[in-house]
Amino acid sequence: MQVIHSVILQHLLAGLALCHPAASSNYLDWKTFNAVGANLGGWLAQESTIDTDWWARYSGGAEDEWGLCAHQGTKCGPILERRYATWITTTDIDILGAAGVNVLRIPTTYAAWVEVPGSQFYHGNQQSFLSSISSYATNKYGMHIIIDIHSLPGGVNGFPFGEAEGHYGWFNNQTALKYSLDAVDEAISFIQNSNSPQSYTLAPMNEPVDVEDLSVFGTPYSLTDDGA
Ligand SMILES: *[C@@H]1O[C@H](CO)[C@@H](O)[C@H](O)[C@H]1NC(C)=O
Repeated sequence: MQVIHSVILQHLLAGLALCHPAASSNYLDWKTFNAVGANLGGWLAQESTIDTDWWARYSGGAEDEWGLCAHQGTKCGPILERRYATWITTTDIDILGAAGVNVLRIPTTYAAWVEVPGSQFYHGNQQSFLSSISSYATNKYGMHIIIDIHSLPGGVNGFPFGEAEGHYGWFNNQTALKYSLDAVDEAISFIQNSNSPQSYTLAPMNEPVDVEDLSVFGTPYSLTDDGA
């Protein structure tokens, strides 16, 4: 299944299909919940390594979505709207549901939530696509949705997915913080306005790193006290 970029969380009780007739009416207790998760990468946030044919076709050699959009100019919007409409569909959710998946983590760029002046990221109909797929997954399979704000304005880790390669500008940046908080508010309002707020979790930030030394990546040394 090409759609499953990576399987997150643990696989428990392989083969057990958890059957929920409708969205759960309760909030999750993460201490007891048995999560079988899939990550929907390359849908609302693009990365060069996920669908390499698509990337080769549109990136113009860029290493990140920022560069892809800079390369495409006004065509970036239509290209990404088509991506949103086709890379993940309800058929994929049916395949995952049948395999017993009960959690979807959905990476988004901050531009799904806010329009930031000077950003190359495209702010379009991401929320509408996220809403259709999430409602389908929660209503039909009782899935839980983790909305991941995978990048933040200015760049949160210098990696292509943190905004753009080499961008560390989020740290100690009041403008970036203001837009980040706006993005979080918008995501919370999306969740509250859904027909099933209890089916969502928000991950407001991904992998903050302000030490430009890959050998410490994934350890506490990748973030300075100043950055934290
Ligand atoms: C602060 O963040 C804004 C918004 O993303 C960005 O345009 C600007 O370049 C950042 N400032 C620095 C010094 O990186």
